[in-house]
Amino acid sequence: MPSIRNITIAGASGNLGKLVIDALIARGEYNVHVLTRNGSDASIPHSVQVTAVDYTSVAELTTTLKGQDVVISTCSPGALESQIPLIEAAIAAGVKRFIPSEFTADIGNLKASALPQYTAQLRIQELLQNATNENPDFSYTSIRNGVFLDWGLAMGFQVDFKSERPALYDGGDRPFSTTTLATVAQAVVGVLGRLDETKNRAIYVHDLVTTQRHLLSLARKIAPERRWEPVSVSTEDMERKARENLAQGKADLISLMGFYCRSVFAEGYGGEFKRVDNKMLGLGYKSDADLEIILRGVLE
Ligand SMILES: NC(=O)c1ccc[n+]([C@@H]2O[C@H](COP(=O)([O-])OP(=O)(O)OC[C@H]3O[C@@H](n4cnc5c(N)ncnc54)[C@H](OP(=O)(O)O)[C@@H]3O)[C@@H](O)[C@H]2O)c1
Repeated sequence: MPSIRNITIAGASGNLGKLVIDALIARGEYNVHVLTRNGSDASIPHSVQVTAVDYTSVAELTTTLKGQDVVISTCSPGALESQIPLIEAAIAAGVKRFIPSEFTADIGNLKASALPQYTAQLRIQELLQNATNENPDFSYTSIRNGVFLDWGLAMGFQVDFKSERPALYDGGDRPFSTTTLATVAQAVVGVLGRLDETKNRAIYVHDLVTTQRHLLSLARKIAPERRWEPVSVSTEDMERKARENLAQGKADLISLMGFYCRSVFAEGYGGEFKRVDNKMLGLGYKSDADLEIILRGVLE
C-alpha cells in the first residue's frame, strides 16, 4: 500500500478524538485535517485545518475529502449512523483507509454482538466489508480496545469508587481487557504505520487485563482510610432491566448500562481479549504500578 500523508478526523473534539489529534500531530508525519459539524463549538488545536460540514451531504463530504488518504471517525456513540454518508463520500473521494468509530468491546464475539447496543457498530462493519469488496482501492480497520481504562474509572464504570457500596458484577472476578484513551490513540497511529497488516479487519489492543476485585484491592492499598462494602450484582438481571428500558424507549447510557456490563463482565462475552495486536502496532502493556498511578488520580 502506498504511503499516506493526509489524514482527516471526524468528531475530533471528543473524549477520544482529542488524543488521536495529539498523537497524530506528535508523529510529525501527517497533514491533519478535522471535520466538525456545522455549528459545533469544538475546540481544535490551531495548527490543524478545520472544516465544518453537513454530515448528511455526500456531495459536500466528497469535495471535502478529495486528496485525503485516511479518514478516522471518533464521532460520538449516538452519531454512528452519521458515518454512512461519510463512508460513501470517502469511497467517492478516493480515500484509501477508513477507521470507524468503534473502539469498543469484542463485537466479533457472538454473544456480545447479539446485545442491542452494538447494532450500529455492526451495521457500519458490514457496510465497510461490502464496500471493500466492491472497491478494491478502499479499505478499513476497526479498533477494539475493551473498556476505556482511565475514562471508565473516572466514570465509575469498572468500579464505582465514589460509592461506598460499589457493584461487583457476577462475582467481580472475571478478567476483562481495558485500555487508556492515550493507548487507543497510539493504536490508531500504529495502524497507519501497518496498513497492509491491518487491512480490512478488526485489530485488538489492551493495556492490561484486570478484574473488579483486583481494582478494589489496589484502591484499598492506595486509600486505606476509605471503606468500600461491595454489593453483588448479576449482569443477567442488568441485561433484563436494560431490555425493559429499551422497550419503554429509554436509550440513554444509564438505561442501557446492563448491556455494557454484560459485554465486559459476563462469562462468554469476550470481555478478556485472548489475542491482541499490541506487538504488531508497537504498543507495550501497562503494569500494576501504572494501574496504581491511574487509580490514584481517580481516587484523589
Ligand atoms: N470502550 C469504551 O469504554 C468507550 C467509552 C466511550 C466511548 N467509546 C467509543 O469511542 C468512540 C468515541 O466516543 P467519544 O466518547 O470520544 O465521543 P464524544 O466525545 O461523545 O463525541 C465525539 C465527537 O462527535 C461529534 N458529534 C457529536 N454528535 C454528532 C453528530 N450527531 N453527528 C456527527 N458528529 C457528532 C462531536 O464533534 P464536533 O462537535 O467536532 O462535530 C463530538 O465532539 C465512540 O465510538 C464510542 O462508542 C468507547
